[in-house]
Amino acid sequence: MYIFYSFAAPLLLLLALRLKGLPPTPEDIFSNPREAYGAALRQHGPVIAVRRKGNLEYVVGPEFARHVLTCDRDFSFEEGSAAIMNLQPIMALTGGTLFRDLKDFVREGIIARMDEIVDQLYPIYDRDCEVFVDLVAKPEHESSRPDLFNHTRDTLSEATLLLLLGQEYVSKRNMRIVEDVSNGMAQLTGQYQNFSFVGKYLPWLWVLLTWINVIIIKIPFGFVRLLGPRLWVDVSRYEKIARKSKASEQEPRNVLYLIVKTYINSGEQYIGVFRRMYIAMLLLCLIFASVHTTTVVSQWVLFQLATRPEYLNPLREELLKVREEAANGELHLTAASLRAAHLLDSFIREVMRLKGDTISTMRYTTADVPLGGYVIPNGSFVTPMSSTVHENPEIFGDEPTKFDGFRWVELNKDAAMTGSAHIVFGLGRFACPGRVLAVNATVPDEATLNPEIKLIVLSLIGRATPSLLEGRFEVTDPLNTVTQPPKGTLIFTPLDRPLL
Ligand code: HEM
Ligand SMILES: *[C@@H]1O[C@H](CO)[C@@H](O)[C@H](O)[C@H]1NC(C)=O
Ligand SMILES: *[C@@H]1O[C@H](CO)[C@@H](O)[C@H](O)[C@H]1NC(C)=O
Ligand SMILES: *[C@@H]1O[C@H](CO)[C@@H](O)[C@H](O)[C@H]1NC(C)=O
Repeated sequence: MYIFYSFAAPLLLLLALRLKGLPPTPEDIFSNPREAYGAALRQHGPVIAVRRKGNLEYVVGPEFARHVLTCDRDFSFEEGSAAIMNLQPIMALTGGTLFRDLKDFVREGIIARMDEIVDQLYPIYDRDCEVFVDLVAKPEHESSRPDLFNHTRDTLSEATLLLLLGQEYVSKRNMRIVEDVSNGMAQLTGQYQNFSFVGKYLPWLWVLLTWINVIIIKIPFGFVRLLGPRLWVDVSRYEKIARKSKASEQEPRNVLYLIVKTYINSGEQYIGVFRRMYIAMLLLCLIFASVHTTTVVSQWVLFQLATRPEYLNPLREELLKVREEAANGELHLTAASLRAAHLLDSFIREVMRLKGDTISTMRYTTADVPLGGYVIPNGSFVTPMSSTVHENPEIFGDEPTKFDGFRWVELNKDAAMTGSAHIVFGLGRFACPGRVLAVNATVPDEATLNPEIKLIVLSLIGRATPSLLEGRFEVTDPLNTVTQPPKGTLIFTPLDRPLL
């Protein structure tokens, strides 16, 4: 849910105040945030203070990243996210259970059922990637190429509907609703702000208008109006199934049912109106947290792969090893295949490490906390600067920015996963639960990255070779690599003999 925080990132207009020294210019921050922040940290670090949105925000270097992200007694994930998302009323009303519930439902509803879920999802990815490669190969589409970003987002919206609500909800209309929710969030995260006049010069007005548009108009009139009635009926139906008063019906296997069942099992007689509103909120958060982030990261991976064709052969050899043959002789991918795809896992990890994230996690102090010779006052935002962590020479050697796609295969996975070398998914108790979709989370070696990215990449490179028109891509908004995909045109050349 880091994207909730990063919507604040583009609002960063001025590094106006620091503990000492002169701030870099606003131009630097927009065009070159990694260097601007990095230089300030090198010069004055490891703790600097930056004013944005009227708050003094503390940015720390790699030496304190782990401490800030994991010591949740002093640096609260929940308070930080509630404050930055203006969710304090909801947190207060629900006794602060929101984030814990989100994490628990992802764990029990998705991670624990990973094998089954990959079996459910694979046909969607397989079908969509095949359609996409066919479209791309057709000469009449030379002028208007199908858009990979939109295509990926469609696939992910369908997968998300299936996971959260079940097959009956999969329809073009509902996919649009999911995409609107996810786009609304992208808007809130400031995706388009740096491209608009109001966004650049009147940021407070931009925030106000965007909030009204998304939170007051888009979500209630889109998600709630269009899906609400049907969700209401299904929650009532699930209530009965969970109470076993309808024992004849089979238990549905989706996250919504799990949520309803959890509340019924915890002794609630029935699911009241407020509980239903809370459930809708949980669903919205899960859509926010998963669709856009995963779409963006898979674009980064494919773009990097297109510029580094030397990785294609080893990755395809791995695909040949991990794909499985079904009883009917068809080749497919299972959760076990994805767990065994160590080279791809490493490649994705490396793309994420170097894609240039600046601020992707946020914490909030709950007391006056001493740090690096300063005292950070109670009630302050504190965040590690991601790129200084991801490019830390103490961990990554003399050439920390050198792309080495398979470096994570060699490194001790355990250290890599729980250490402070890779914070793209955050760290500690509140690290993204969507990151490790392991069947047995107690065995770190078996942990695998979000399988959706792997499914997309394998389904595509098993059928076609990506390359870039003009051989390069641009980063349109360097402050926003988290929510903004790279810009360029990917071309796919179909393989003579597809591997899947
Ligand atoms: C590549 C895609 C993704 C990225 C880059 C990403 C990144 C993050 C980050 C940085 C955090 C905050 C961690 C912290 O502050 O320590 C987070 C939290 C979270 N993410 Fe993700 N995420 C991704 C995919 C997903 C998916 C697929 C799901 C759901 C299935 C998900 C659900 C969540 C939830 C529920 C939280 C809040 C954690 C809590 O409540 O404790 N994310 N994510
Ligand atoms: C992608 O989808 C958006 C709507 O979600 C649409 O406005 C845009 O034109 C699409 N782009 C392409 C290239 O099809
Ligand atoms: C920090 O501030 C909050 C809110 O103002 C307050 O409730 C809390 O007691 C403070 N913590 C300490 C340790 O003073
Ligand atoms: C997970 O792995 C550990 C260690 O190998 C094992 O003891 C445990 O039984 C496994 N749990 C499940 C649910 O498979």
